[in-house]
Amino acid sequence: MEQSTNKLQAPGASIQWFPGHMTKTLRLMEREIRNVDVVLQLLDARIPRSSLNPEIARITAGKPHLYLLNKADLADPDVTAQWLAYFRRGGDACLAVTSKGRGGLQNVKKAIEAELAELLARRAEKGMAGAKRRVMVVGIPNVGKSTFINSFAGSARAKAADRPGVTRGKQWVTVGDFDLLDMPGVLWKKFDSQRVAGNLAFIGSIRDEILDIESLAMSLLGEMREMYPDRLAERYRLSTEELSQEDDYALLEAIGRRRGMLMSGGMVNTERAAIMLVDEFRGAKLGRISLERPDEA
Ligand code: G4P
Repeated sequence: MEQSTNKLQAPGASIQWFPGHMTKTLRLMEREIRNVDVVLQLLDARIPRSSLNPEIARITAGKPHLYLLNKADLADPDVTAQWLAYFRRGGDACLAVTSKGRGGLQNVKKAIEAELAELLARRAEKGMAGAKRRVMVVGIPNVGKSTFINSFAGSARAKAADRPGVTRGKQWVTVGDFDLLDMPGVLWKKFDSQRVAGNLAFIGSIRDEILDIESLAMSLLGEMREMYPDRLAERYRLSTEELSQEDDYALLEAIGRRRGMLMSGGMVNTERAAIMLVDEFRGAKLGRISLERPDEA
């Protein structure tokens, strides 16, 4: 299949959507992977497949791996349960977490130790049981890495002093028995589907400034109409007729009209409506939503 760059990108925009620092991060990851014991990869629970960066998967293959479906509080709990079963069936350790607003994450510590059971046993035999577990924390931008690390660390957080040879842009954080290597969020250069690009944009992993907000809102409406029509109807008091029309632009207009977003002459301000819709989705005003299911191809 021919790969396409993100079509949601504003045409002719001079802004580079894949910034140079992401290339640097991938290189850094390639260098550092040999210095860690386990990889903790954060995925967005609402889009576990789209948020699984193939570049990260390539670089970290061969290391013990734990997936965290973060922002589980925003995702549909039944679908999250299906994803957990899906990853575990494939032999991957996976937990659903909510990094924001709750402490603890004790189950994550236990899961990391379970992944490292063999290594820890070997170390114990050599009298090195006290050695820190070195954990690389990776994920796409905005997936909640900083929030996770703060929450994981709790009050025990201690930033390790700069170590010799440590390159700028990477940071070790010591938390009890763990040394966490906090990697900047990174995307990949080409998306092999428009759907993946859209999903990443909906959750705010691609900077909004380079997106056409009305196109984004219309794609989101397309997804929502298919998967959660009742939520849309309820939130924006849409009639069955309005909801079933094929035209996503007309639907955006209907939503804007309901919210009184009118310009002079009675035209709907669809840009304002689009911003509002995307914000409300991100803020879970439309309820807990999962945009991907494991049984989809
Ligand atoms: P990053 O380091 O991976 O880029 O992500 P970061 O931790 O900065 O989190 C990005 C946004 O996601 C933040 O919201 C953060 O609060 C939110 N977030 C992280 N984990 C969770 C979670 O488990 N559940 C929910 N609901 N939100 C989460 P923000 O609006 O950018 O900042 P703030 O106003 O919340 O501080």
